[in-house]
Amino acid sequence: MPFPNDFTWGVAAASYQIEGGAAEGGRVPSVWDVFCRKPGAVKDGDTGDVACDHYHRYEEDADLIAGLGASAYRLSISWPRVVKIDGTPNEEGLAFYDRLIDALLARNVTPWVTLFHWDFPQHLFDRGGWLNRDSVRWFADYTRIVVDRLGDRVAHWFTLNEPQVFLQNGHGDGFHAPGLKYDTPALLRCAHHALMAHGRAVQVIRERSAIPSRVGLAPVGCSFIPATESAADIEAARCATFATGDQPGWLFSTAWFAEPALRGHYPEDGLSMHGHHLPSDFEADLPVIHQPVDFYGCNIYSSPTVKAADPADSGGKPVPVPEPTGGPQTMFRWPVTPDALYWGPKFLADRYKLPVYITENGCAGMDWVHVNGQVHDAHRVDFLHRYLASLQRAATDGVDIRGYFQWSIMDNFEWDHGYQLRFGLIHVDYATQKRTPKDSYHWYKKVIAANGV
Ligand code: FCB
Repeated sequence: MPFPNDFTWGVAAASYQIEGGAAEGGRVPSVWDVFCRKPGAVKDGDTGDVACDHYHRYEEDADLIAGLGASAYRLSISWPRVVKIDGTPNEEGLAFYDRLIDALLARNVTPWVTLFHWDFPQHLFDRGGWLNRDSVRWFADYTRIVVDRLGDRVAHWFTLNEPQVFLQNGHGDGFHAPGLKYDTPALLRCAHHALMAHGRAVQVIRERSAIPSRVGLAPVGCSFIPATESAADIEAARCATFATGDQPGWLFSTAWFAEPALRGHYPEDGLSMHGHHLPSDFEADLPVIHQPVDFYGCNIYSSPTVKAADPADSGGKPVPVPEPTGGPQTMFRWPVTPDALYWGPKFLADRYKLPVYITENGCAGMDWVHVNGQVHDAHRVDFLHRYLASLQRAATDGVDIRGYFQWSIMDNFEWDHGYQLRFGLIHVDYATQKRTPKDSYHWYKKVIAANGV
């Protein structure tokens, strides 16, 4: 059996990456607005000030999403657009999302709303950001404002996008906003508060949504691929997927976030290595973090391969297998590893017993409009073909995979890489804002129509 009949075929984008309108409608600065102005922080000094001007062109964009036949669109709300500095709702900002949601629904596209895709309000960052325990309350208050306004039409919610990335890259390594290089105790405190914010947001959505809603999170699907399909290699990949590391950057971990959120405790191996860095009373907060959710969303682009240290031992000790020299890579230099969409969902669904949604997957290129006016992005078509075939294999094997959101509906602001890297199914000419659907757009449309590759 290929994909289930009610499979969700979607596309994704995020507020700061496409909206623009940075100073309009009462929006206040986010940490990304400020970070982009630091010399050297973002490629070519690019900013999200205008981006794809989606703030003004959302009707055209909704047409393009609907034209694809997509049943769902994953968007994010800009927190600094909808909450004023004094904490009260910003009517103009909320009205924008009203219009956007209505435009989608009018076209039979279901909105899947992410509450936090990294645009943290700068004024709250100035009060300590995620390091301040009050961030949990700030996030819950923001969530209440959004759900009170949109919860009569939005039934699908994600709390946090990729906590691994905004914490490690933004608060640990400093190459994403807010550009911090915290030590481990501070970093883990931020992560703990972000997890609490997730839990509180789930509670608020459940309490205040006017229609039945489904809630989940969208972390990075940090998972591994077995070098072969021997029992020992598979077990090694499964163990690697749920292990906590101790090397720099170990916060790129599935377990550090998923275990407390879904099972109510930090992972044992992680606690023994890093537990002494957590706030002393962290255990009292676990019930807030641990809220029932309806699905496991994960963003998967590329996964490393491992094999069993000893092929005769199914005990799970993994050793890394390097990527082949000169192997396929996207423009991001991320290895092309289609099997990631087989093993990732399989391991995650097995362990957490939740339906899985791929909340992001896609291919970076440096596409341009060809002399014939079209955009021939053969690399992206091939990438999506291979990855979706793997996902289809997972569905055929009985993995409870319910949906796929391609990243991204259109080229956009790719964080520290600015506008250089293009992930879109639709090319955006940033000088004119002209949208040109690429070959991949037409290809994905056929996949959707056929409910599979
Ligand atoms: C993910 C982000 C998304 C986009 C893609 C390429 O880490 O969630 O905003 O930048 O990578």
